[in-house]
Amino acid sequence: MSRLDEAALSLLGQEPVAAYLYDLVALREHCARVRAALPAGVEMFYAIKANAEVPNLRTMQPYLDGFEVASGGELDHLRAHFPNVPILFGGPGKTPAELRRAAEHQIHVESLWELRQLAELHRPVRLLLRMNPALDHREDSPMLMAGKPSPFGITPDHLPQAVEILRQHPNLEFLGFHLHTRSLQLDLEEHLRLLQRYMELAEHWSQDFRLHLQVLNVGGGIGVNYRQPSQQFDWEQLCRRLPGRPYTLRFECGRFLTAFCGTYACEVLDLKESHGQYFAICRGGTHHFRLPAAQGHSHPFRVLAGPRRGPVLEKVLLNVVGQLCTPKDRLASAAPVQQVGVGDLLLFPLAGAYAWNISHHDFLMHPHPRQIFVDA
Ligand SMILES: Cc1ncc(COP(=O)(O)O)c(C=O)c1O
Repeated sequence: MSRLDEAALSLLGQEPVAAYLYDLVALREHCARVRAALPAGVEMFYAIKANAEVPNLRTMQPYLDGFEVASGGELDHLRAHFPNVPILFGGPGKTPAELRRAAEHQIHVESLWELRQLAELHRPVRLLLRMNPALDHREDSPMLMAGKPSPFGITPDHLPQAVEILRQHPNLEFLGFHLHTRSLQLDLEEHLRLLQRYMELAEHWSQDFRLHLQVLNVGGGIGVNYRQPSQQFDWEQLCRRLPGRPYTLRFECGRFLTAFCGTYACEVLDLKESHGQYFAICRGGTHHFRLPAAQGHSHPFRVLAGPRRGPVLEKVLLNVVGQLCTPKDRLASAAPVQQVGVGDLLLFPLAGAYAWNISHHDFLMHPHPRQIFVDA
């Protein structure tokens, strides 16, 4: 039996189980593999918005160049546990207080107004300009953040004004450009084309405005295939085919780093047939695990038999739902299942990113899931 299954079964007892289980061995191996593939001159930061559980961050840190935060809250969290780790501060709508704190780190500037406020701090500020150029994206991602009208970044027609502010304020040190335009990318060729385009644009802007390009941050956005879990993004090939360049290339991935290490486990409380369809009602639901509802997919899962204490179904197409009083509380639809019984655990893999932390935890006031970290 695997470490994870053992850990999940050990939770069974008086209280029905709802838990996140994080496999720190798998996380360590994954981050080591991601790191080993990076060519010279390429950095990897982790966007902690994907999952900021401290044991996960500690496991990842040796394989990273640092962390990216997008709020004062994330910065406090990191600083409390990692006093010296390099930090990038990004994200739209920074408050004046956040801009002052961000200035202690490398900052991703999202607008001309942010740039003007930083200029007025009259202290050295090291910054990257986040850009939103028009891009020929395939419109297949539900998470396009730029390449079209959006609140993120500065459009190229405003770059001359940004450069003017930089020239007038020597306290502002331009390090480079930042482009994070999409998430959930599963197509390797498409992503290589996108990175190539980022590089062309950054080089072109730097030449036109005589800016010294030291760093190009190409964001995150590498996807995780929830629909076909055996077919994942070929990271090694992406790294092998990255073009050479005289400046540092920097990734700040979220989902691709932590998604694989997390499993959401929930206990089957009831099984029923309704108008010809079968339903498993589980402890928990989308208030713990909003990811499938947020992405609009049926999340893969497997059944781990527990001590059966109620109905059992065999060879059915199962809808998996939670305890909330809304039809939107659904984790999986019409999934073929050989056998499932009340008291079993359903294990949802690929739950280590944008899962617990994007969920509406307190809707209906059910208990929160346990957070379990499994190491060797
Ligand atoms: C600026 C920025 N960088 C990095 C990320 C991480 O993206 P992903 O989890 O898709 O890698 C995000 C996600 O929204 C982001 O907004």
